[in-house]
Amino acid sequence: MNSFIRFLNSSIGRKYVMAVTGLSLTLFLLVHMAGNLTLYAGNEAFNEYADLLESNPLLPLAEAGLLVLFVVHILFAVLLTGRNKTSRSDKYQSNLGMGSKTVASTTMWITGPVLLVFLVIHIWDFRISKELIEEYDLAQMVVDRLRHPLGFVIYTASIAMVGLHMWHAFQSAFQTLGVAHPRYRALIQNTGRLITALLVAGFGGIPFYLFFTG
Ligand code: HEM
Repeated sequence: MNSFIRFLNSSIGRKYVMAVTGLSLTLFLLVHMAGNLTLYAGNEAFNEYADLLESNPLLPLAEAGLLVLFVVHILFAVLLTGRNKTSRSDKYQSNLGMGSKTVASTTMWITGPVLLVFLVIHIWDFRISKELIEEYDLAQMVVDRLRHPLGFVIYTASIAMVGLHMWHAFQSAFQTLGVAHPRYRALIQNTGRLITALLVAGFGGIPFYLFFTG
């Protein structure tokens, strides 16, 4: 137990926690994005998908797990940022040239907090608001929000931030976990870029589609 706490207190332990929670959140984002694509089939299809999710008795458990993932990921990001300011002694498990500085890596401290603000707005927009409305139409709430110029700007800008954050985060997670063997480096980088492109195109296409097709 003591060694586990010591591990969590070390920079590499905290990076591990961020890598594991970050990769789990990436999986959630892919599933969330795929579900959102039902909007292209119309409001009814989207609401049917949302109802199907809601009828699953395990949903509250999944939502609680998701909340824990987000909270732990953000908490450890804050702890690590504080630690990095005072010491830079802990090294990655492997550093094979994937840690070189890019726009995406140097803007993590901006994209992270901006995404936190976006999440608060987003959860309020759809998850909390629907609890406050007696008879709600979730698809119409999404359509109204994304057709509003402010909603359009908030969502497209935030999805761009998701892209920038993910561009660096995916390969960084594998580097932290020590699985960035030279043989897999290109594969990991390309997979990260493919996932990022899918998320940006999948999430980002929706506000553009709704806003510009009226
Ligand atoms: C066009 C983009 C997006 C749309 C239209 C959208 C739509 C929605 C909707 C309708 C819900 C409520 C689901 C329900 O309660 O049944 C929701 C929940 C959620 N979304 Fe999004 N979303 C988008 C992008 C994102 C992004 C980029 C993130 C993360 C960075 C995200 C994270 C979440 C989270 C954490 C929840 C709460 C899940 C839950 O508790 O069930 N979403 N989204």
